[in-house]
Amino acid sequence: MSLRKNGYHHHHHHSARAFSDRRWLLPFLASLLVSVTLIFITFSGVFYSSYGGEQLSIDFISFARSEDSNEYFVESGLKESSGKYPVEQMEPPRIAYLISGTKGDSQRMRRTLQAVYHPRNQYILHLDLEAPPRERIELATSIKSDPTFLEVDNVRVMAQSNLVTYRGPTMIACTLQAVAILLKESADWDWFINLSASDYPLVTQDDLLHVFSNLSRSLNFIEHNKILGWKLNQRAKPIIVDPGLYLSKKSDISWTTQRRSLPTAFKLFTGSAWVMATRSFLEYCIWGWDNLPRTVLMYYTNFVSSPEGYLHTVICNSEEFHNTVISHDLHYIAWDNPPRQHPLSLTMKDFNNMVKSGAPFARKFARNDPVLDKIDKELLGRSEGRFAPGAWCIGNSSDGADPCSLRGNVSVFRPGPSAERLQGLVQKLLSEDARNKSCASQ
Ligand SMILES: *[C@@H]1O[C@H](CO)[C@@H](O)[C@H](O)[C@H]1NC(C)=O
Ligand SMILES: *[C@@H]1O[C@H](CO)[C@@H](O)[C@H](O)[C@H]1NC(C)=O
Ligand SMILES: *[C@@H]1O[C@H](CO)[C@@H](O)[C@H](O)[C@H]1NC(C)=O
Ligand SMILES: *[C@@H]1O[C@H](CO)[C@@H](O)[C@H](O)[C@H]1NC(C)=O
Ligand SMILES: *[C@@H]1O[C@H](CO)[C@@H](O)[C@H](O)[C@H]1NC(C)=O
Repeated sequence: MSLRKNGYHHHHHHSARAFSDRRWLLPFLASLLVSVTLIFITFSGVFYSSYGGEQLSIDFISFARSEDSNEYFVESGLKESSGKYPVEQMEPPRIAYLISGTKGDSQRMRRTLQAVYHPRNQYILHLDLEAPPRERIELATSIKSDPTFLEVDNVRVMAQSNLVTYRGPTMIACTLQAVAILLKESADWDWFINLSASDYPLVTQDDLLHVFSNLSRSLNFIEHNKILGWKLNQRAKPIIVDPGLYLSKKSDISWTTQRRSLPTAFKLFTGSAWVMATRSFLEYCIWGWDNLPRTVLMYYTNFVSSPEGYLHTVICNSEEFHNTVISHDLHYIAWDNPPRQHPLSLTMKDFNNMVKSGAPFARKFARNDPVLDKIDKELLGRSEGRFAPGAWCIGNSSDGADPCSLRGNVSVFRPGPSAERLQGLVQKLLSEDARNKSCASQ
């Protein structure tokens, strides 16, 4: 009986093993098949890449087109819904401005706001956490008490103020937050422009909106260069930490002793932190249905001077947007020779060069520098404490009243001589020669 039992056990055990042996065979064959397929793919990949990356990507695109394989993936649908607006060419554009400043800047921010104000546009002001709460409240009250802002309702002051570290990622975070608010609060703007308290316009909004009425709404003005040579070592290899991300008091970025290798998943670009970017590109950055903007943002967290590289690297590595970028920041900026870290402060002696440049903005200006009054008088026609007037200002000014207190049609513009200079600059930037250089590998 014990023998039988043993035999039974033995037999049972044996048949169970035989059974599991057979079950093991099927996955084995399946994995063999997968391995063979993978090896085959690897070899054909090697084969393809030996023709060079360009050939491969062209092949892939033509394959995707011919098979319409994009239809099976969710991202292509998202791209179509966002990137390609039916462009209302008849409707003049609208611009969303961010004006940012720090402690003691609220007066200058108000002046810049008045100089770039137009009822068509959207405005958001950010005073960073270094400014005392009283200054922020004063700024907010002065905006609230302006009858034009109250009626048109297109100026906002960010209630949440962020700690912003110069050269650190907190500066990007703050700009992206402002963009997110603008996207959420206003459905109709075409371009985003960020200005700081030390920037000032050289053209009226009538000039700017008139010239940009004719432009494709898909053009991004982001001044950029590929990072090369010594700059790669100085910029891309160090690892920094921005204390503004986790401390409540402002301090400079801190440098770690570690260095990292250069990225191979994307190419690095650098350029001006001042941009004029399209709504569709910024939606792409903020919504993040494609992972590139998020990955690059995380990468740039530990990068020196990330505000001068984040959008540049995203746009030049994006299949969808790299053809839309024009390498200019639309600012007149004067540098020392050789250039130092900060640009020169502009004064009277720079006036003629500023005007000649055709740029719509300039930086940087010292607080209440006399050249600002000259710009107000000669380029903007603005008097102290008032808006730079445009065709929308239809009030009676004969008794010294502000003509902008009565608003007319905001789609009508009265461009002046500055519009021609701006038109000249834009024409130059759109020329084939200039376009060919964008995001180029050099
Ligand atoms: C806009 O384009 C039209 C037609 O191409 C042209 O006649 C007009 O002068 C342009 N306006 C400006 C400001 O460039
Ligand atoms: C402008 O926006 C870019 C992109 O977000 C940002 O990196 C940069 O710091 C901003 N510049 C200013 C002056 O706010
Ligand atoms: C503007 O006001 C002045 C006096 O206040 C008046 O004489 C003039 O007719 C007004 N002009 C217009 C266009 O209303
Ligand atoms: C405003 O001006 C535009 C362009 O001239 C015109 O098409 C539109 O009808 C005007 N709107 C009003 C309310 O008069
Ligand atoms: C710009 O690129 C186009 C197409 O790649 C080429 O045909 C043209 O000659 C280039 N123009 C210049 C000025 O390099």
